[in-house]
Amino acid sequence: MTESVKIVYKDRIYELPVRTGSHGEKAIDISNLRDQTGFITLDPGFANTGSCSSAITFMDGERGILRYRGISIEQLAEQSSFIETSYLLIHGRLPTVKELQQFSVLLNDNSLVHEDMRGFYQHFPRASHPMGILSSMVNALRSFYPVLETTDEEIDLTVTRLLAKIRTMAAMSYKISRGHRVVYPRPDLSYCANFLNMMFDTPVMPYEIIPEAVDALNVFWILHADHEQNCSTAAVRLVGSGRVNLYAAISAGIAALWGPLHGGANQAVIEMLSEIHANGNRIRPYIDRAKDRNDPFRMMGFGHRVYKTYDPRARIIKKTCDRLLAKLRISDPLLDLARELEEAALKDDYFIDHNLYPNVDFYSGIVLRAMGIPTNMFTVMFAIGRLPGWIAQWKESMDDPNWKISRPRQLYTGPTQTDYIPIGQRNL
Ligand code: CMC
Repeated sequence: MTESVKIVYKDRIYELPVRTGSHGEKAIDISNLRDQTGFITLDPGFANTGSCSSAITFMDGERGILRYRGISIEQLAEQSSFIETSYLLIHGRLPTVKELQQFSVLLNDNSLVHEDMRGFYQHFPRASHPMGILSSMVNALRSFYPVLETTDEEIDLTVTRLLAKIRTMAAMSYKISRGHRVVYPRPDLSYCANFLNMMFDTPVMPYEIIPEAVDALNVFWILHADHEQNCSTAAVRLVGSGRVNLYAAISAGIAALWGPLHGGANQAVIEMLSEIHANGNRIRPYIDRAKDRNDPFRMMGFGHRVYKTYDPRARIIKKTCDRLLAKLRISDPLLDLARELEEAALKDDYFIDHNLYPNVDFYSGIVLRAMGIPTNMFTVMFAIGRLPGWIAQWKESMDDPNWKISRPRQLYTGPTQTDYIPIGQRNL
């Protein structure tokens, strides 16, 4: 029997169907609400609004659970690779040995970036943020590959191109920003090792692949690969709903991710920890500021719209961080500071009452620092990781038979009809 909820307004009763998710979670289907009742709903920030049904990622914010296509993030981080996880998200199941090999070959074949694109990089001002550059360059890919994604083969090729080229483009932007020679991808290296080599190899100091750094990068990218309907994914779906090409939709996702409340938090955390360190490691004033309603400061790397407990990704990245720093024999004062800050915050009533726990961004910057990634590239690292999720979500939305262009309503609160006053008659 289909469940429903009843809305009573004045002397009328309206019935709305209830939809149930795989884990029994309930949603009131309001798709005919306006037709039925004349009402719209109002939900700033969409905290209570499901924008779609999705079979990709499951999150339980109360219990701290995250699964891609049903597989726990813990198992994937422990046993999978970023490429295999990307395949899982995009194709809906784990690949066979042959499929994974073919996928890797395709990624290698498509990893070069058109030489004409190098010219674009040279013309960004030196101080440009790499996220702005990445968003522009991904959008520019459409000019180099203008074939519309209409058949499955064309979509697969566009998807492969994006996954293959994004790391080359990211490493290129870093090299060019430093005025260094661009390093090309190598067919003998894995996806993650290739990226590190393109970032750090120089003619005067060949980069020695550090297996522990490659492993940590794999974990970092797996943890970021999807997170259901977050701000940037919602942007990809919304922009994509106008049937724009995939490059433009991903470019919009990168722009959305850039913000410090979203993917930009990993950079903001390191900047915050560095500032605390420079001010003598005194954490109390920062905790007090975070609690002060009149101060816009927030404890970066803390809190989450969905997780009201410890972010499961934060738990994993914290372990990865400890392991990597120990293996590389790095002693980072910011790690000690982060631990101290976490301990103090978790004992504080404000953080307890507001369910504020470390999120994935709290420790991830320390992992990236240990790999040698510069701070302004941190959010680019997040973007590379999130790409398979954006693609999977875009594909799912394109295949949805009930898909409509995203076009929210509003509650208008401006003036009612007002006459135009010619400029000479305005008494302002
Ligand atoms: N520091 C201090 N107070 C906070 C924080 C924080 N980091 N996060 C939330 N609060 C307080 C907020 O002031 C509000 O208090 P009150 O109810 O007393 O007015 C309450 O908690 C609810 O906050 P909200 O802004 O309504 O919560 P939200 O779900 O809209 O925001 C968030 C979620 C992630 C934007 C927010 O927690 C935040 O700004 N965190 C810091 C930035 C950050 O680390 N972002 C990375 C998120 S994880 C990676 C990703 O998925 O992008």
